Amino acid sequence: MSFASDLRQRLDLARKLIDEAGKLALAHFADLVHLRIDSKLNGQDVVSAADRGVEALIRGTLAKTFPEDGFLGEESGLADGRSGWRWTVDPIDGTSCFVHGLSSWCVSIALSDADEHTRLGLILAPVSGDLYEAVHGEGARLNGRPIKVDTQTSLETGLVGLGASHRVPAQEVASLLEMLLARGGMFVRSGSGALSIAEVAAGRLAAYYEPHINAWDCLAGLLIVREAGGFTADFPGAGRHLLTGGPVLAAAPQIAQPLNDLIASARRH
Ligand code: IPD
Ligand code: CA
Ligand code: CA
Repeated sequence: MSFASDLRQRLDLARKLIDEAGKLALAHFADLVHLRIDSKLNGQDVVSAADRGVEALIRGTLAKTFPEDGFLGEESGLADGRSGWRWTVDPIDGTSCFVHGLSSWCVSIALSDADEHTRLGLILAPVSGDLYEAVHGEGARLNGRPIKVDTQTSLETGLVGLGASHRVPAQEVASLLEMLLARGGMFVRSGSGALSIAEVAAGRLAAYYEPHINAWDCLAGLLIVREAGGFTADFPGAGRHLLTGGPVLAAAPQIAQPLNDLIASARRH
């Protein structure tokens, strides 16, 4: 079997799977009063039966069809494989929005090769039905139509998605926020890092930055942005850093440098 046909088979399954995963998540979303919710690191970091159920569905189906593939999922962790392929999955990104009945959440699936290059990225936002997809070297699509980052936008006219969590000191986010506003820019925090990154690819957001995010939150989105002509900073999510995560920056190319300068000044602040 060739690399290309291995990839194509996995793309076909990933498309079916993300659709099923979205339907299962939506069924839970329609019945939030009965959803079991547990807290993880703190009261803002939660996991629900929907997260666990959707990940079990994705992991179980992949294990049946491609038993040699590795898998990293937010809820069930890492299992190394033997084929060289690894799936990286966030069953629900934006769980906090999900459990509060807000629509900004998505399912994110990435596939990487033996060299840790992301080859496939799929992000489905079930409430809107938006499906973002990229295959390395073949461009990015939203609901089947090609998408591009917004090459006309600037820090002063575009919207910058900013992520925050209690994994980083509040001051780091606050300083950047202050500098961005002082510069005439504007921020958005939708509550789903994965979806925000995909929105950069579609030219909806000018950029997305978060001081710390995990591989399952961003690998699919980063490929989608690159394939849409955007800039992505190297993400330390490969190899031994796979489980530690790091800062993420995805941007329209002309935004990357000015935003990076602001981030650097905010860090020194
Ligand atoms: C979180 C969301 C949030 C981001 C956090 C992530 P989760 O993922 O992407 O927008 O700011 O860093 O942990 O917990 O909803 O899967
Ligand atoms: Ca996430
Ligand atoms: Ca999640």
